[in-house]
Amino acid sequence: MTTTTTAVIDLDLPGATISRHVYGHFAEHLGRCIYGGFWVGEDSSVPNVRGIRSDVVEALRAIAIPNLRWPGGCFADDYHWRDGIGPRDQRPRMVNSHWGDVVEDNAFGTHEFMDLCELLGADPYVSGNVGSGTVAEMSAWVEYLTRADDSPMAALRRANGRDEPWRVPFWGLGNEAWGCGGNLRAEQFASLARQYATYVRDQGGHRTCRVAAGASDADYHWTETLLRSFDDLAADPATPAAPFQAVSLHYYTMTGPWSDKGSATGFGTDGWYVALARARHMDELLTRHSTVMDRHDPYRKVGLVVDEWGTWWNVEPGTNPGFLYQQNTLRDALVAAVHFDAFHRHAERVVMANIAQTVNVLQAMILTDPDTGALVLTPTYHVFAMNTGHHDAAALAVHLRDVETRTVDGGELPLVSASASVKDDAALVSLSNLDADTARTVVLDLRGRDVVGHRARVLTAPALDAHNTPDRPRDVAPVDHAGVRSHPRGLEVDLPAHSYVTVTLTLG
Ligand code: AHR
Repeated sequence: MTTTTTAVIDLDLPGATISRHVYGHFAEHLGRCIYGGFWVGEDSSVPNVRGIRSDVVEALRAIAIPNLRWPGGCFADDYHWRDGIGPRDQRPRMVNSHWGDVVEDNAFGTHEFMDLCELLGADPYVSGNVGSGTVAEMSAWVEYLTRADDSPMAALRRANGRDEPWRVPFWGLGNEAWGCGGNLRAEQFASLARQYATYVRDQGGHRTCRVAAGASDADYHWTETLLRSFDDLAADPATPAAPFQAVSLHYYTMTGPWSDKGSATGFGTDGWYVALARARHMDELLTRHSTVMDRHDPYRKVGLVVDEWGTWWNVEPGTNPGFLYQQNTLRDALVAAVHFDAFHRHAERVVMANIAQTVNVLQAMILTDPDTGALVLTPTYHVFAMNTGHHDAAALAVHLRDVETRTVDGGELPLVSASASVKDDAALVSLSNLDADTARTVVLDLRGRDVVGHRARVLTAPALDAHNTPDRPRDVAPVDHAGVRSHPRGLEVDLPAHSYVTVTLTLG
């Protein structure tokens, strides 16, 4: 049986701009994300530019990667930036206590990261150390990176081979301060965030957006406390919302408890629906954190930055439990699509998001083989590729009618997820069929502008846990979709069971 859902879209009522930065990424010194993922070193047989893998850069440029968060995660609050500058063979070593308790040789440091961002054409998002660092250390790092004149830190940067300052448009004040970033209480951290933010100075004409380490999941008290901490500064629309310009939120999708998060592959229909219902929970989290923020920041001068999100499964059998290496299937792709729908709907408040993590860790875009170096693009990568039309486009409301639901986890999961945006003479409609077994048709009831052309793409596969490997790199990859027809109200789109479809509309 095929069921029909209607999606009403007013093409002439553009809403808030969907920042391209919600398509941001995250690279931590964790497992094989930096070492083996981005960085192979100059002497590697894997083609590289100054030690950075060329194929990884090429793949991420193809999805217009807008920003990259580094060096953590939990690692950020153990990281002392001065250990990662100067001649590589003289850099001190450290223990990466959070991730595998391995020795880190600091081969990849500040200059290597900024070089990577320049190769990618991405904005750097540096996470500063609040947990075990000092205010002076963070202040000096900002000066080192962004100051133009002959200040002590600018001179040190030049001595290390970089004349011009870099731009760092995003600066993180700690990470998960309620946990690995210091086990602080919300009130303690709010005071620290004000203090650290003060010393993350805008150097010369350089401006950075300071992101205070925010809540996990439904910890609304944490968000409330951070926002309340500068009530005295934010009440007047004429004054800037000092001292920080954004707060973060972390939320991971898993199907079990932390002790057994679920397997990345080999799951059944239940594992499919539970994951998607939990991904859909992001929408509620954004609504409720935004409501808290609205109370203290009615003019929305403070952004919400979801700088860690994605699936977190049990590690692949036989791999280091501290390296968080997991396979990535069609289910992960749909989890990503559902998150993007939520980010689009909350474009007024959500200014940036960073999937965890880019290469070889958690919900990765790219997996690399540790032995052969072969690179595989995951199903999640393809959702990012299909969505580039949403970057910096204006969100359009999508009103869904006749959506079937399924009871999952005691709640109702709508089996169609959708969002849309418009930029100039093109609109992009995203449609996910979350039904594991049943195809459906969506009528796009398109109002307000003439539609003079369309093109559709579909991402699906026979099995719910279909994934790509070096031997079968395109088992899950988008193809042109012929299942789109004219309809008296606009267009009629076929959605295969468990599929993601994008329709690009050319507007007259
Ligand atoms: O992304 C992996 C880890 O998850 C990060 O280091 C930490 O911030 C979070 O708990």
